[in-house]
Amino acid sequence: MSTHNVWTHKGTFLLAAIGSAVGLGNLWRFPYLTGENGGGAFILVYALTIFAVGIPILIAETMLGRASRRSPIMGMRFLTRTHGTYRAWESIGWLGAASAFLILSFYSVIAGWAIHYTWQMLTGTLVGADAEAIGAGFDALLASPGLLTFYHSLFIIASGLIVGMGIHKGIENGLRILMPALFAILLVVLFYGIANGDFAAAAGFLFTFNLGDLSLEGWLQAMGQSFFTLSLGMGAIMAYGAYMPSDASLSRTAFAVAVIDTAVATVAGLAIFSLVFGAGLDAAAGPGLMFVTLPLAFAEMPFGGLVGGVFFILVLGAAISSSISLIEPVAAFLVERFDLTRPQAVFAMVLASWALGLLTVVSFNTWAEGSLFHTLFGRSAFDFIELLTNIFMPLGGLLIALFAGWALTYSEVMKEMRTSETWFQVWRFLVRFVAPAAVAFVFLRSIPQVEGYLLPTVGALIIVGAFAVGRTYPGKGRQER
Ligand code: PFF
Repeated sequence: MSTHNVWTHKGTFLLAAIGSAVGLGNLWRFPYLTGENGGGAFILVYALTIFAVGIPILIAETMLGRASRRSPIMGMRFLTRTHGTYRAWESIGWLGAASAFLILSFYSVIAGWAIHYTWQMLTGTLVGADAEAIGAGFDALLASPGLLTFYHSLFIIASGLIVGMGIHKGIENGLRILMPALFAILLVVLFYGIANGDFAAAAGFLFTFNLGDLSLEGWLQAMGQSFFTLSLGMGAIMAYGAYMPSDASLSRTAFAVAVIDTAVATVAGLAIFSLVFGAGLDAAAGPGLMFVTLPLAFAEMPFGGLVGGVFFILVLGAAISSSISLIEPVAAFLVERFDLTRPQAVFAMVLASWALGLLTVVSFNTWAEGSLFHTLFGRSAFDFIELLTNIFMPLGGLLIALFAGWALTYSEVMKEMRTSETWFQVWRFLVRFVAPAAVAFVFLRSIPQVEGYLLPTVGALIIVGAFAVGRTYPGKGRQER
């Protein structure tokens, strides 16, 4: 029995998956990581990973959702039972739910900063301000737990309201208005950047590839970013996939999501760097690129307050279309498992994530360096939570690739993929070998930062490997290739 319903239109999954994928990852994280890592070479590795690893896992994750027609946790339980595979694969669902909960907690705090900047831009507070004033303004925002909590609450409540209204009335309708508006705003900002900034410098920076420029750390960051931006391994795509009509094509949809997500990141990068270079500013400002460097560029340009305000509305809209995809998998689970009503389930998820978000809030002020948390864990709570997600995310992706590649049989996959034999073989090679190798590589990135995680990490990899090998020797009734 399935309690799940299906999206109203064939194309809604695409819309929802793009909404999930396009977010702070494209507008905030991608440009600053590219800026820090010297431009083109970073983008090349990022794009390669999107296509060789991201798309195959995206297909796999959607497939698991649609094949089970349940929320990730219940869905994986269902699939392991009906397919006679090890129950340990259920960890995919739990890992996804835990990651969604953790990511939402800090995602909402950072999206809250965009509320602050929308307001500052539209009221013209920053017009004509100099670097010092804008830098001091950002520092003052981070120093205020009250203000951060206020914005964090606003953002998470808005996200919860949309999901609470249900997948049709809330999510579908919300996205149908939001997404076209976001694309229109993005183009406005791009044209503004071309007209007022230095587009040639931006294009040169983004499209000049010199792999020698990229550090090993840069390689790893590019791969990690490709996971984050496609919302992989966190149950979001699986939850949305559960509502996908059976006749929609998995492969074509995954390609479209990846291409559009990459295009948005590229256009955002072009727009932002045109403005940054046009104002003679530094591309390598790190996380402050959007909240300090960019406001500074807008402060010096005609109609900067207005266009800057519109830009931050874009950031907010993109963030909310992603945050709802973090609430959905957990809320759907609570509805299925505990028979809660949807509003109750959403309330529980959002409240818990909001409370956890307070740890991120204080990480920038009262619990910043020198606090007890820092002394105990060697990092701020925000860094700690981000680190956990950096481990869970690739681990989830790895497990999904292995489950789809090794545990499911040919006919089980073909029933969902309905594709040519050649593309099936290519896909299976990618999920069986290329994706796990790449993910293991991304994964190792965390190790130097977290010696304490070394053992559990290696342990997890060995266990996962053992499962994979186990499935290559199929049990009774699973003699198929
Ligand atoms: N893909 C989103 C972004 O690029 O901002 C972030 C995200 C959303 C990650 C949903 C994971 C997720 F499940």
